[in-house]
Amino acid sequence: QKGGYKHFMLKEIFEQPRVITDCMTGRVDWQRKEVLLPELDALPVPKRLHIVACGTSYHAGMWGQTLIENWSGIPVNVEIASEFRYRDPILQEGDMILVISQSGETADTLAGLRIAKDRGINVIGLCNVVGSSIARESDTVIYTQAGPEISVASTKAMCSQMTVLTLMALAWARRTNALADDTRVNAITGLSKLAGQLEMELPRMRSEAQSLARLYSTARSFFFLGRGQCYPLALEGALKLKEISYIHAEGYASGEMKHGPIALIDPDFPTFALALNDHLYSKVKSNLEEVQARSGKVIALANPGHDLKVDHPWILPEAWGPLNAFLALPALQLFSYEAADYLGKDVDQPRNLAKSVTVE
Ligand code: F6R
Repeated sequence: QKGGYKHFMLKEIFEQPRVITDCMTGRVDWQRKEVLLPELDALPVPKRLHIVACGTSYHAGMWGQTLIENWSGIPVNVEIASEFRYRDPILQEGDMILVISQSGETADTLAGLRIAKDRGINVIGLCNVVGSSIARESDTVIYTQAGPEISVASTKAMCSQMTVLTLMALAWARRTNALADDTRVNAITGLSKLAGQLEMELPRMRSEAQSLARLYSTARSFFFLGRGQCYPLALEGALKLKEISYIHAEGYASGEMKHGPIALIDPDFPTFALALNDHLYSKVKSNLEEVQARSGKVIALANPGHDLKVDHPWILPEAWGPLNAFLALPALQLFSYEAADYLGKDVDQPRNLAKSVTVE
């Protein structure tokens, strides 16, 4: 069942190249470099999109927000479902809600969906489990095609959600005419290479994760820092580490560090940073220098050609633009996995957690 892997989590992390391919099967015309998502075309283009989800699915939604806004020009608001359902949100005519849920059974997300339906707002469900409650109650469902996720910690589901969100952003951009042709072509070309790049890199990523986990598993706390589209990944890296290794971790927007949290930094409080080659690289670099000036140790995911002077630069091959997230995500997952395994934790069944949270 585990296909020779020690844990389902590891197997599912390694399935991600296939997940990316499966998510795009039948949804991309590779020749014309166009996305085909008839599920979306059946609905009008939203005037405003509300993404509602929990946990890892919420992080995927935060990541997707930037792409949808930048590529299609649709304003997007992303919200934790347990907050959305109790705050009497303003929903206007032409608004749409996108609920993201691997299991399709998360109680708070389902409640958010029902609020939108009661108000006459169209609901798009992005789900992995076919026939789940969220899939059944949504006006339109888009399946993530990740295959069954057994490990309690969600890994490949987030990768599949990010893949579909990328396609959704492209599909809406076609209708709003907001995206330059060369960006669309670059995005689709980048998507076509992604699975191969990741497949090649995963074994090396795992051994890097293994050696870093040995060095850092005794830490009692960790910061995960990122900016822009790496911020939701930082949140996800911290969530994974807490969840399966029980090491306290905080995900933070690195520009916020100086507004308080940097006070915590000392030689025993390491930072795991995302310093990829994007327009915020130099900002992240100077945020990390501030951490190092307080004697904090730094691991940083970076791309070739970086000029960081951190303790452990972890070089990832470069993908096109925002697609670099698909390489950073498994590095974060593997680091947590290796830390938890090294500490002898029950990786697939972490304490106090259930795979689907059907109560609020
Ligand atoms: C973290 C994790 C949870 C889920 C959350 C939402 O690894 O698994 O944070 O992401 O409970 O679950 P779904 O996506 O099933 O609604």
